[in-house]
Amino acid sequence: MYKVKDINLWKEGERKIEWARQHMPVLNLIRERFEKEKPFKGITIGMALHLEAKTAVLAETLMLGGAKIAITGCNPLSTQDDVAAACAKKGMHVYAWRGETREEYYENLNRVLDHEPDIIIDDGCDLIFLVHTKRTELLDKIIGACEETTTGIIRLKAMEREGALKFPVMDVNDAYTKYLFDNRYGTGQSAMDGIIRTTNLLIAGKTVVVAGYGWCGRGVAMRAKGLGADVIVTEVNPIRALEARMDGFRVMKMDKAAEEGDIFITTTGCKDVIRKEHILKMKDGAILANAGHFDNEINKRDLESLAKEIKEVRANILEYNLGDKKIYLLGKGRLVNLACADGHPCEVMDMSFSNQALAAEYLLKNRDKLENRVYRIPYEIDEGIAKLKLKSMGIEIDELTEEQKRYLEDWREGT
Ligand code: ADE
Repeated sequence: MYKVKDINLWKEGERKIEWARQHMPVLNLIRERFEKEKPFKGITIGMALHLEAKTAVLAETLMLGGAKIAITGCNPLSTQDDVAAACAKKGMHVYAWRGETREEYYENLNRVLDHEPDIIIDDGCDLIFLVHTKRTELLDKIIGACEETTTGIIRLKAMEREGALKFPVMDVNDAYTKYLFDNRYGTGQSAMDGIIRTTNLLIAGKTVVVAGYGWCGRGVAMRAKGLGADVIVTEVNPIRALEARMDGFRVMKMDKAAEEGDIFITTTGCKDVIRKEHILKMKDGAILANAGHFDNEINKRDLESLAKEIKEVRANILEYNLGDKKIYLLGKGRLVNLACADGHPCEVMDMSFSNQALAAEYLLKNRDKLENRVYRIPYEIDEGIAKLKLKSMGIEIDELTEEQKRYLEDWREGT
């Protein structure tokens, strides 16, 4: 069963998937093993992820491992219709198209749940949240879930604290081979890619304001600087603010940064980071983009209320004419790297999705031992992915000698 924009788009989708697959060597190794061992035989996996080519490679890996796949997007603007069609053509149950309304988005999440999944793979926690609130009849059957992103983990930890979590969840986001690469280098490159593709403007010589200096913000600030921008960071956390300053960035309040910025990129995971009081101070022509999970970091209602006219001036660029100035919003304030580009690079998603595949297998193998908690990815899985990634890159590293191992373990031994 499927509900996609146009099934005839599948060939172009398949070409994209093939390209992604060729650049995901670690996941390919896992797929080869899964094909032989079929660890998910008889298991239904319900997925809500950004439905683009790398996600399709993860889904087919699980399918070849024996799983039945029901999949939808986790953001109304990130689904690529040709990829969704290709997934349907492969026999997955797909319910997703680009530009879903809010109602359609939730209908599609529910359609995935109608398949009564044993395992959930989520990005942002909307699917897990839906099971816990409106589809509680499914809770008994669910073995557990894997969550992809910081925003989802924040929600899940709050549920865990309140004792509201009804199955174990594997925290893929906090695996080292995920956040150190995906959140930093992935978001850094793909957010700038989305902005550059969409605007066709030069970054060098511009002032770029990055809101938030978590792993995503670090990546974006680093790449904006590399492209020649003067980068300002805004933060609420004093330690992160200090780090940003010592990494060489200017740090100030958004109130002040608003007057200076040419391009603003939010990466905080919090709402209303850019709001009326800031918009009023911005320069004519300021460009706003969001790289956080939800589209509430830039207050769109404030933009609308200030605007005398709103029009699309280029694909994915809305112009808000405030009378005395014009402000531009990219990708309707949704994740700029997915709404305006193709998401993170393949090599990065190779590691993130290898964590997802192995976390799902771990859930299944340890189903009798796990409690209704949020679990970190076991270090052996994380380290194993790093080793395979290094191997795929042709990089060898040193090993400790026996004497060095003894030295590190023996607290009595000095210099
Ligand atoms: N592609 C698939 N999932 C993604 C994610 N969470 N971020 C960026 N690109 C992606």
